[in-house]
Amino acid sequence: MTTRVEPAGSLAGHIAVPGDKSISHRSVLIGALSDGETHVRGFGRSADTQSTIDAVRALGVQVDDLADDELVVHGVGLRGLQQPDAPIDAGNAGTLMRLLPGILAGQKGRFELTGDESLRTRPMDRVAEPLKRMGARIETTNGRPPVVVDGTDTLRGIEYVLPMASAQVKSAILLAGLNANGTTTVVEPAPTRDHTELMLEAAGVRVRRRPNSVSLEPAGRLCLPDITVPGDFSAAAPFIVAATLLAGSELTIHDIGLNPRRTGLLDVLERMGARVSVFNRRKGGGELIGDLEVHSAELTATDVTEEEVPRLVDELPLFALAAGLARGNSRVTGAGELRLKESDRIETVTEGLRTLGVRIRSRDDGFEVRGVPARPNGGRIPSDGDHRIAMLGAVAGAISRDGVEVEDADAVAISFPGFFDLLHSVSRR
Ligand code: S3P
Repeated sequence: MTTRVEPAGSLAGHIAVPGDKSISHRSVLIGALSDGETHVRGFGRSADTQSTIDAVRALGVQVDDLADDELVVHGVGLRGLQQPDAPIDAGNAGTLMRLLPGILAGQKGRFELTGDESLRTRPMDRVAEPLKRMGARIETTNGRPPVVVDGTDTLRGIEYVLPMASAQVKSAILLAGLNANGTTTVVEPAPTRDHTELMLEAAGVRVRRRPNSVSLEPAGRLCLPDITVPGDFSAAAPFIVAATLLAGSELTIHDIGLNPRRTGLLDVLERMGARVSVFNRRKGGGELIGDLEVHSAELTATDVTEEEVPRLVDELPLFALAAGLARGNSRVTGAGELRLKESDRIETVTEGLRTLGVRIRSRDDGFEVRGVPARPNGGRIPSDGDHRIAMLGAVAGAISRDGVEVEDADAVAISFPGFFDLLHSVSRR
């Protein structure tokens, strides 16, 4: 399906966005491993998180849907998952595909995991390798899904130095560590999102968090208290960027997760001169939450460095667009991981934005942008079935002169089903 997004004059109003996707996945997975019930509110329902619900159901876990954004997970305990009759289909959900092997490594039974065409091209050796070191029996298909896990009760804790900054790989190792003997430690090249650690801590696990590493002790049992999932910063990001770029905008986004390992885009935009204020700061379930007020601003160029990348990894496509309208030359380096996402985001971003007239060039590990503080023309963006590229196309359309046709626009449902309606509802002519 192709959707046309017309140029907007400004964005104005008050909005909320779906619950955080990373935290939603984890609430269901860790809830499934807990003793007793976990009541999840603010759940971010989307194709990806539905894949996680379907997966735990296939593994014998009861999940009651109380509402679109509310559910109860009836945990079966740390080793209580059951072998399903058929392969588990993770759909497009990379987080599910990476975290689940860590959980299944210590279960009883044999499990096969597969996914859609895009997911089946994504690297799995990054998870299989450390899990094997822990004693897991796991086989990939040439380093990719389908993956087969043969559960064992002889996992051992390891200290693992991650070769890439990846919260998914870190999480898989930590989740395996719950059922291992001894301490499990993961050292990171740069700090990545720590939702798994925070939620495990809330569930009673002994976790030691340091700036560049995390350790945990095997857990006898988990007990996950009720969870309220904050709004997804990555779902707020398209609105933050659009409101910044559209003169006269004044947009408030409520109840957003502001975990500092997720909000790199705010720091980068601030350097560029954006006007985003945070108020109503509070804490909920170990996570920082707040409201954001975004006013339009004229931006100047900046560079994003490797160390910073994990804190805005999913927002780099939007950064590229913002840089396209900023005064001066911007550069992203150390972001080779973008090539391994739902699409090769270095190519999809570069090709997509170029067709609109943005002066962007790809590098092996990022991109270079020559900013021009004027609306880009418009045109057609192929999203390649990648939800973040479809949203990028929509923001590009809103800030363009002539509008943008977003191909495969329904891909937004992977993380944010109501995205186009919400964008439309705050767009002023
Ligand atoms: C995620 C981690 C990141 C991110 C993805 C969600 C998570 O992936 O890009 O959208 O929930 O742990 P990597 O671990 O591959 O960097």
